[in-house]
Amino acid sequence: MPAASRNVPKMKLKVGITYNLKKEFSQRENQPIDFLEEFDSEETIDAIRKVLESEGHKVIKLGGDAGLIDRLRQTSVDIVFNIAEGLQGRNREAHIPALLEFLNIPYTGSDPLTLSLSLDKAMAKRVVMSQNIPTPRFKKVGRMEDLDGSDLHYPLFVKLCYEGSSKGVRLDSKILNPQSLEERARGLLKTYGSPLLVEEFVKGPEFTVGILGNKDPIVLGVMQIEIKGRPPEESIYSLEIKREWEEKVRYHCPPSIDQDLLKKIEEVALRSYQALECRDVSRVDIRVGEDNTPYFLEINPLPGLSPAYGDLVIIARSIGWDYDRLVKTIFHHALKRYGWME
Ligand SMILES: Nc1ncnc2c1ncn2[C@@H]1O[C@H](COP(=O)(O)OP(=O)(O)OP(=O)(O)O)[C@@H](O)[C@H]1O
Ligand SMILES: [Mg+2]
Repeated sequence: MPAASRNVPKMKLKVGITYNLKKEFSQRENQPIDFLEEFDSEETIDAIRKVLESEGHKVIKLGGDAGLIDRLRQTSVDIVFNIAEGLQGRNREAHIPALLEFLNIPYTGSDPLTLSLSLDKAMAKRVVMSQNIPTPRFKKVGRMEDLDGSDLHYPLFVKLCYEGSSKGVRLDSKILNPQSLEERARGLLKTYGSPLLVEEFVKGPEFTVGILGNKDPIVLGVMQIEIKGRPPEESIYSLEIKREWEEKVRYHCPPSIDQDLLKKIEEVALRSYQALECRDVSRVDIRVGEDNTPYFLEINPLPGLSPAYGDLVIIARSIGWDYDRLVKTIFHHALKRYGWME
């Protein structure tokens, strides 16, 4: 076991990286257009590998398919840097961390319980609500009958209950009346075959908050997401917008908002991170309501680390951190948890 040291890990480690690559799948005709959206590109894996190698570690790319089980037993690694999104079901993000726990292999990031809870947006909302953290009123809809008797106030927002990367979220996901709700819900249930989250629409500006750490987590930065040419009430950080972020989005980090509101946003993000017992890193999405209250929308304990367009990477850059510093900090938080660094 590596001995502890102050600023850098004393031992050179054998670090595995687990991930799922877009290019390992092919889009079939009967699949939704955003089927591959959450998977990573090789560029991201190589960027992480370079950072870890620059610290003297030996890095092994382990992938994230079923062959991983054999690779883990054949290749002994000291620790895994995990960014795998998983392959199927609402526990998919937890599959590899659960396997690593079973084999007693340390890994970066949150544990299986947090990863599953956070991916299911309804479950995550129930947990944050239990801590009195504001989040829009909602209903989980697995079949059309679940829409009956809803007392939610329009406008509403309809998304998939356990997807990320704006899968199933489009510019027209804001719903103004019961007829559109029915059409939208029917269409999504048919196309994606998984439950929906119907939520009250939060009309104000949107923020995403990067958080790092464990016992005393810190806010890395709060970033406002402005969709160019649209007022907040017509802004949705949808699939179309995320795919063309360079032309369509203006990021503000730090945002030009009053200090009280900024503090409240940070507080909601930190409290959500703690309520869900996140580890090492997460990104929390928040929208501010007409009542000036920041509402928790969702949390991402496996935030995208694309060096080009990951929101967390953009936050880090805005506060003067390069990619190396961000990845090393996440890695070091994990090493500290295992007692391998001071
Ligand atoms: N209740 C809501 N009110 C207003 N806008 C919402 C609401 N829920 C989601 N949105 C909009 O839809 C976007 C995508 O929703 P959300 O962040 O929940 O999904 P996601 O696909 O998991 O995102 P990510 O890419 O961060 O994983 C949000 O960034 C926001 O613009
Ligand atoms: Mg989001």
